[in-house]
Amino acid sequence: DRFLASLANLNTPAQTTNRAQNRSTPAAIIGERPFNNVADTDPAIGENRTWGRAILARSGDSQLGVDTVKAGAVTTPEQMKSILDSVTAAGANWGGMPAAERAAILHRAGDAIEASRARLIEVMATEAGKTIAEGDVEVSEAIDFAHYYAERSLDLEAIDDATFVPSKLIIVTPPWNFPVAIPAGSVLSALASGSGVIIKPAKLSQRSAAVMVEALWEAGVPREVLAFVDLKDRELGRVMIADPAVDRVILTGAWETAAMFRSWRNDLPILAETSGKNAIIVTPSADLDLAVADVTKSAFGHAGQKCSAASLVILVGSVGKSERFERQLVDSVRTLRVGLPQDPLTMMGPIVEAAQGKLLNALTTLAPGESWLVKPRQLDDEGKQWTPGVRTGVVPGSEFHMTEYFGPVLGVMRAKDLTEAIAMQNAVDYGLTAGIHSLDPTEVARWLDEVQAGNAYVNRGITGAIVRRQPFGGWKRSAVGCHAKAGGPNYLMTLGQWEAVEQPA
Ligand code: SER
Repeated sequence: DRFLASLANLNTPAQTTNRAQNRSTPAAIIGERPFNNVADTDPAIGENRTWGRAILARSGDSQLGVDTVKAGAVTTPEQMKSILDSVTAAGANWGGMPAAERAAILHRAGDAIEASRARLIEVMATEAGKTIAEGDVEVSEAIDFAHYYAERSLDLEAIDDATFVPSKLIIVTPPWNFPVAIPAGSVLSALASGSGVIIKPAKLSQRSAAVMVEALWEAGVPREVLAFVDLKDRELGRVMIADPAVDRVILTGAWETAAMFRSWRNDLPILAETSGKNAIIVTPSADLDLAVADVTKSAFGHAGQKCSAASLVILVGSVGKSERFERQLVDSVRTLRVGLPQDPLTMMGPIVEAAQGKLLNALTTLAPGESWLVKPRQLDDEGKQWTPGVRTGVVPGSEFHMTEYFGPVLGVMRAKDLTEAIAMQNAVDYGLTAGIHSLDPTEVARWLDEVQAGNAYVNRGITGAIVRRQPFGGWKRSAVGCHAKAGGPNYLMTLGQWEAVEQPA
């Protein structure tokens, strides 16, 4: 859609911002209401490259978001309690508004995020090491969430035999790795469902979330309905999560965090998307060139710091016996240009914190049976800037097979046939994303039946779900309490209560 949209609009003049806009065509229709995925910035247009270089030049010492973070500082339980009370009260008013009025504000929020595209890319490059290309798609996803959830919110009133009762207070605790798209998707879904929201972003990328929230405020989301907090310590987090006023928590992060929230309040409804250990299977029928490109992008996009990233590639039968796939993979990985996000040519930026623990181990040591196809190298003193690593010979059941690392290291496994490959893919605790590269429809159909993953992708990379087209959510240990996928038609319905309407006898 985005590609066609960009082609259709190559000749339109630049519009409201100085990015050359690729406005989507009004083609896609769900039900009666239109929704179009917004187009990413097209770097083939020279004007956009100039625009991008200017953003990155500012990002070195950008102060964006700082004031909102400062203003959101919470240092005492009393202060936390008063924010909980005021958002709960404002949330009740927000939920009582006609859905169409709320939807209009959320559409304006989508436009405001678009108008903030440059600032959002700037702040993500500054604090989260996001390259311009990775930052740009995140902004597009955030805009999509705004317009899509605005439309879907109208569905909540359209069901005859039940009434949707919104939550009054939803807490949103997003991760650092998608500093704009995940906070935006979570906050916008909660707002669209008619709830008040407190967002507590991850410390490492809270300025990016702050700039996104500023756009929502500018668009008319009342500050009392959407509060931004920066908590001084974990105890304040406990005070916030355990408060009985909290109706729901939308968490994206570690499974252990979801467990901690539960331990703070065991009857708390949590919707959590938590961790992954994701593999792509490559069968002998695959288009190997495509598979190599998709594995490379899925493994090393944002330096592997995505819950959806490919951490394993499983080569079936002859693909694993010949050297062709691995040779091409090595070439492909070695061409990734590693550097700082401030350099517009950088394809893989630094990791957000110095490698330590199991990630450092995965970047520096091998287990029995393994060898490096591409050995990672540390480029800085601090331990954030690494070249990508590929290890082969990963043994079923080994630590590398089972563990999520969240960094730029990929493992190659070999399976004798598809049955064995699927067993390896499903052997992990998690079930977030999974991929297969196969041009054999029988293989693909069987795989789709058997694979245990929320998002199963065929002949495509396994990161970068697109709102409406590829709703996103996990299975097994990758999800806690999520009964619908983000960016899909049912998500908002899970954010409140349903009350049956009495039918006349
Ligand atoms: N939605 C993101 C992706 O698909 C992960 O959170 O990459």
